[in-house]
Amino acid sequence: MYSTLGHLAMMQDARRMGAYSRAIAETVRRGDVVLDVGCGAGALTFLALEAGASHVFAVESSESIELAKLVARKNRIANITFLKADLRDVALPGPVDVIVADVRGATPVLGNSLQVMQVARAKHLREGGRMIPVSDRIFVAPIESPEAHGSVSGWHMSFGKADYSCLSDVASNQTRFVRFSGSAVLAIPVALTPDIDYRADCPRTAGIDTVFEALRDGHCHGLAAWFEATLSESVSMSTSPEEPHTIYGQAYFPGREPQEVKTGDRLQASLRVTFVGQEPVWTWSIRGPGDSPKSETHSSLRGRVLSGDALRARAPEYVPSLNIEGDIDYEIIGLMKERRSNAEIGQLLLKSFPSHFNTADEAISRVGKLAVRYAVVG
Ligand SMILES: C[S@@+](CC[C@H](N)C(=O)[O-])C[C@H]1O[C@@H](n2cnc3c(N)ncnc32)[C@H](O)[C@@H]1O
Repeated sequence: MYSTLGHLAMMQDARRMGAYSRAIAETVRRGDVVLDVGCGAGALTFLALEAGASHVFAVESSESIELAKLVARKNRIANITFLKADLRDVALPGPVDVIVADVRGATPVLGNSLQVMQVARAKHLREGGRMIPVSDRIFVAPIESPEAHGSVSGWHMSFGKADYSCLSDVASNQTRFVRFSGSAVLAIPVALTPDIDYRADCPRTAGIDTVFEALRDGHCHGLAAWFEATLSESVSMSTSPEEPHTIYGQAYFPGREPQEVKTGDRLQASLRVTFVGQEPVWTWSIRGPGDSPKSETHSSLRGRVLSGDALRARAPEYVPSLNIEGDIDYEIIGLMKERRSNAEIGQLLLKSFPSHFNTADEAISRVGKLAVRYAVVG
């Protein structure tokens, strides 16, 4: 969920906005109907109208759509249908000519971003329609950054009898957002294959096994990944650390221990993302000259902090039985189905769960939260 300031920062990124403005001007033709996937504060919607779109469907799952609505209202900008919904649940009156989106993070794989783009194209783009972005290529390189590696090495501390160094193993399996400088890059970057082509079904896996050659002496602290976007025929944008900064930063894939490297040393590395269901799982490894051939493979699955109970509850054969929170939500949704008001449902909840709610207001507030999530508002 992006905050208002998060949207401000995205729109203040002159490289991103410049590239998107040029791509939209090049792609959108007079009279086009456009779908803006994840419109946020609306910048891409307004650029599409400026480029000649006759109508924009601006879809946004978060409350930030209110920012875009406010701006449209204050500037008396018409020809927009705002839809507060997850793109995957949206029905439009007909297919659109152009889809414009930026649902990426440090890499184009952010949660279910690729699935969202695929659904947008398959469900809403007319035959021969155009997409912004057209494709993304993910790059990877070994990186020197003691600061970034602090997320792994920083656990060597103890409180009382508790030695926290065991948690560096968990941290070494977690990817994170970092802004590297160009001088941190230790070798010539290579691209993962295949590219992410938004005009086709997204790949279930993408990756690379490669050998990097160190360009200088230093210490390798892991891998960095970023992307180069083809936004339209002549517009591209790179988020490489060797380019001026953008809001996207880079993704950091930590190594377990820093590895000393000399110019010309070979670093064997792999980086792969695989979709398990709709969930992206990253695996990576990096082996320097001094490492044993059996080097460690890191996995974002191992970096997840999940209790044994939570894992068991996700198993296909698990038969869930509702806890008190489930009972309450079940009752609320049942009463919503009977078309009762929030206040009525709250009063009934207070009777059914007297030890859980102290006042009717507390119960009504709980109903209101579920109404925001599940009710058809409008
Ligand atoms: C990186 S921001 C971009 C905002 C705006 N389009 C821009 O370029 O400034 C991505 C936005 O997409 C929204 N989003 C992500 N997944 C979505 C989905 N499945 N359905 C609707 N909106 C989504 C997020 O809430 C967020 O506001």
